[in-house]
Parts: sequence; structure tokens; C-alpha cells
Amino acid sequence: MAILADIITNISHKEQVEFLKLIADATNEATEGIVISDTGLPDNPIIYANEGFERLTGYSRHEILGKNCRFLQGKDTDPNTINEIRQAIRRGVPCKVDILNYRKDGSRFWNRLSITPLRDKSGTIVNFVGVQFDITELKETRERLERANAVLEKFQSEMNAELEQARRAQEAILPPNKPQSEYMEVGVKFVPLSQIGGDFYDIVQITEYSYGFLIADVTGHGIPAALLTFMSATAFKNSAVGVLSTSDVIEDTNMRIFNKMPGGTFATMFYAIYNVLTRELTYTQAGHPPALLIRPRQQKVTTLATKGSLVGIFSGDMVQYGEGTSILEPGDVVILYTDAISESIGRRYEGQDIEKLIEFIRQRINVPLNDLLEDVYHYALECNAKQLYEDDVTLLGFKILK
Ligand SMILES: Cc1cc2nc3c(=O)[nH]c(=O)nc-3n(C[C@H](O)[C@H](O)[C@H](O)COP(=O)(O)O)c2cc1C
Repeated sequence: MAILADIITNISHKEQVEFLKLIADATNEATEGIVISDTGLPDNPIIYANEGFERLTGYSRHEILGKNCRFLQGKDTDPNTINEIRQAIRRGVPCKVDILNYRKDGSRFWNRLSITPLRDKSGTIVNFVGVQFDITELKETRERLERANAVLEKFQSEMNAELEQARRAQEAILPPNKPQSEYMEVGVKFVPLSQIGGDFYDIVQITEYSYGFLIADVTGHGIPAALLTFMSATAFKNSAVGVLSTSDVIEDTNMRIFNKMPGGTFATMFYAIYNVLTRELTYTQAGHPPALLIRPRQQKVTTLATKGSLVGIFSGDMVQYGEGTSILEPGDVVILYTDAISESIGRRYEGQDIEKLIEFIRQRINVPLNDLLEDVYHYALECNAKQLYEDDVTLLGFKILK
């Protein structure tokens, strides 16, 4: 209406009102109500209303002409909003409010009301033009959305609390301490991607001189992955007790979780058993990236790989897990890692991830174990153009001391 006011500044006041009525009549099909009040008459009454106003409020024109527009207000109309209009009219400035109004039949509607003053040539306000627009649906939709939002926020905070509990529970399946042994040093770098992830590892003492090192990756993230992680970790723990064959342990773990994993989900594992007295290393690779054997004395880095499929997806008679052995010597390091490392390197050097990882480690063959794990973690991260891991990262290593 401000534009309209500009157009009509140069015509007489009487012409202005007639002009506005013409425009309002022309918009009779419109959904907006348009009214004009006359400040020269007692209580600033309505002297014109269009058909849109009749449709919106249910009042016919002859019922309301000569009355102040406040008859649209009712018991739940906010007094502060009424006061805002009152002050704007008193100061002679435009105003725009959302106000609760009542139709003739008593039904309520939300009115987006704008009121604009019209001045005569001397600058005195002689009329106000009011435009009413029904925003009930808009307002109700917004309120419904706000209510839904509040429910969602509550749900989210409850979920976060539950996730936190799950994360703490998941932490509990990881070994609390690294084994202290004069024969070897153990290092771990474990960085789950989300609050709870699908990677886990375990270190078990099987006999006085034998230790088992497991690294595993369960498909997916979040709560479902966490549940599968619990299941796989428990199955492994039960299978590993007292068993010195890595392939037997993985085979047994597979049998325990096969048919229990929800459709299409599985775990990959690499399991190694090291006897500190005989220095014999036995290992089984099950759908997992190969482990690395670093031999500083020979300046060599090799992979430890065997035959073996994913865990939890095929029945026992359909899979066979191989077993490899190697005799280690003091200074040797074995590193187990999850595919976040190899995939990250593979992003830069497609198809050459293991070669590049071996090359990187060969250049650091004498670096202390924990530093080496850190270096590998950062090297793989840098290989990834996004400089961001999209998966949990686990690196588990041990070094033969004597
Ligand atoms: C042109 C014009 C249109 C108005 N339209 C409405 C309206 O649609 N709904 C409403 O609640 N008040 C409307 N008002 C506001 C009331 O008429 C009145 O100014 C307001 O209640 C504050 O004054 P009061 O304290 O004297 O009631 C309009 C006022 C003017 C001048």
C-alpha cells in the first residue's frame, strides 16, 4: 500500500479515497480484505470494505460500515498486539501485525494485518487503509512444525543419551589394558568415526606364553553396527578361549554368528596368535586387509595373508579359513589395521594401496612402534583428498623385544 500512497500523493484527498475504492473493488476477487477508515469521523470508523473483507469475516458491508474495526477482536486477542496497532495509529506510522480475530459466526482466524496512513496535501492523516490476509493455515502449519520439532529435539536428545550409553558399553568390549610383557611391546591407535562404530579389536592371553591379537570390522555404523560388534566380539571371545589355532577360532566365530547377522551384514577379521617363547606367529585373514610384517634387520616389509572369507555370512561348510605361520625375531613388528587405512591410500594410488603402505613403512623401518602407528594414520589421512576418514580407523601392532 505504500506504493499506492506514493501514486496518490498528488491528487486531492477525496480523489484519493475514490481511487482507493476503485482499486479495492477491482480486487474484489482477491482473498485479501481491504478497508478504509476515516479519521475525521468519531472513533475512526470503516467507510469502505471490499468483498474480500466480507468473505474473510462473514460480515456484510452494511453491518460494519460506520464501525471501528476492533469488533473483529475477541477474548483471546493479544492485548499487546492491539496496543501495538493503537500506538502506530496514534503516531501516524504504518504497522504490520499478526492478530487473532473472530468471524461473525465466532470462528477464529489469524489475520496478517497491515495498516497504512494516508495524508492530505497539508500532511494531515485523513484515512487509514487496512489490508487483512488470512494466515491461519500458515500459522497452524508452523505451530504443527514447531510441535513436531520439539518432539524431534526431545527424541534426538534421548537418542544421544542412548548412543552415549552404547558408546560406553562398546568401549567396555575393548581390552582395558595392553598386556605388559618383557617379550613384546603392544601399540594401539583406535579412532571410531561416529560415536559408535563397527571396528573393534581384542588382545587375549591364551596360555602363559601365547597371546591372540584380533582386529575386526563390522559392516555399518551407529547402533546396528554396535549390536553386531557386541555379538561378534562375544562370539570371538568364546571361541578364542584355550584355542591355539587361528583358523579354528575364526571358523568357530563364524559358526556362532552365522544366521544371526541381519541380512547382508558381516564382519571382516584378522587374527594372529604369537608365542613369545617359540616366537611363532600363526595368523588367519578373513575378508580383511592383510597384516604387515616389518623386519628391520632384513630391511623388509611383507604382507601376512591367508585364504579366508568374510565372517558371519556363509555357513561353516561353505567357508574355509587358512592359516599361515612365521617365525619372528627380535625387532620385528606386526601391524594389523582396518580398511579405512588401505581405502584411504587407495584413493590416491588406485590398486596400489598395499604397495604404497609398504613403501611408506620401509622408509620408517626403525621408528618406535607407537610413532609408526601415528605416522601410518596420518599418511593414510593425507592420501585422502578430503583429509577426512569416512570410516573407523584401527591400527594394532606389536613388536618383538626378545
Ligand atoms: C484501517 C484499519 C483497519 C483495521 N483492521 C483491523 C482488523 O482487521 N483487525 C483488528 O483486530 N483490528 C483492526 N484495526 C485496529 C482497530 O480498529 C483499532 O485501531 C485497534 O483495536 C486499536 O485501537 P483501540 O485501542 O481503540 O481498540 C484496524 C484499524 C484500522 C485503522
